[in-house]
Amino acid sequence: PELRKQTKGKGIAEIAGIPLMADTVDNWSQIQTFKAKPDDLLICTYPKSGTTWIQEIVDMIEQNGDVEKCQRALIQHRHPFIEWARPPQPSGVDKANEMPAPRTLKTHLPTQLLPPSFWTSNCKFIYVARNAKDCMVSYYHFYRMSQLLPDPRTWDEYFEFFINGKVNWGSWFDHVRGWWEIRDRHQILFLFYEDMKRDPKHEIRKVMQFMGKNLDETVLDKIVQETSFEKMKENPMTNRSTVPKSILDQSISSFMRKGTVGDWKNHFTVAQNERFDEIYRQKMKGTSINFCMEL
Ligand code: A3P
Repeated sequence: PELRKQTKGKGIAEIAGIPLMADTVDNWSQIQTFKAKPDDLLICTYPKSGTTWIQEIVDMIEQNGDVEKCQRALIQHRHPFIEWARPPQPSGVDKANEMPAPRTLKTHLPTQLLPPSFWTSNCKFIYVARNAKDCMVSYYHFYRMSQLLPDPRTWDEYFEFFINGKVNWGSWFDHVRGWWEIRDRHQILFLFYEDMKRDPKHEIRKVMQFMGKNLDETVLDKIVQETSFEKMKENPMTNRSTVPKSILDQSISSFMRKGTVGDWKNHFTVAQNERFDEIYRQKMKGTSINFCMEL
């Protein structure tokens, strides 16, 4: 079976076996010919890995900890989402093209689908990876509340879609492996959601150094506070509360849902967990990446 159902959007299509929004697929030539610039910073994640979180961190650093400047626009409008398309609104590429340099951009694309100019532009990348089980749980609840995505059906059925990469932006395994394997070939800061939870200040400092900034300890402490889950859940600029219910139905599940490490234990059965671990071993064989599954 495939995860397909009539949705409020145009539905799902594929590029090279990767499910994507049909509008993205329709706009593919514009996306692939996108011209990256050397001073671009591209935030890259598999969906539900802490994208909004790292976006807010990067913006707070960029604005030297000035909260008001970070309130200038909704988080989804501050950083163009390269592959986003939803006509008649301007596409992510249109928005990026209009944006003055230096630009911070966002993508969920796996390495093999990234517009090629990113590889030759010598720009910077920040990749955030989240352990597969929590990512899978978070994506399940997002599928339930997003009215642009198909119904995930039951947790058990969704489990199969996820492990087979039949969810939007494809396989978690391929995505994470792909970015992990090229991390030394480009200017890539590779971060883990779990490290950000465990020691936010340490990870925020890494991001600051990577961005070539130098902020006082007090500013760093302020950024830690302002980008906490609790603060971002209450912040209308980050919590998606202004997105209409016809797109994101937060009465089903909040966009800022739990923000923890280990929620997978409340969803996986013992049998599913064993099966998942075995699939993980096969699919991640030969890679040195190591995830923390609980704090
Ligand atoms: P949960 O569904 O597990 O709560 P993305 O932004 O990539 O869509 O990721 C969303 C996930 O990141 C959600 O996970 C969300 O709660 C979590 N998240 C968002 N902001 C966070 C923060 N400041 N701290 C920790 N987790 C955060």
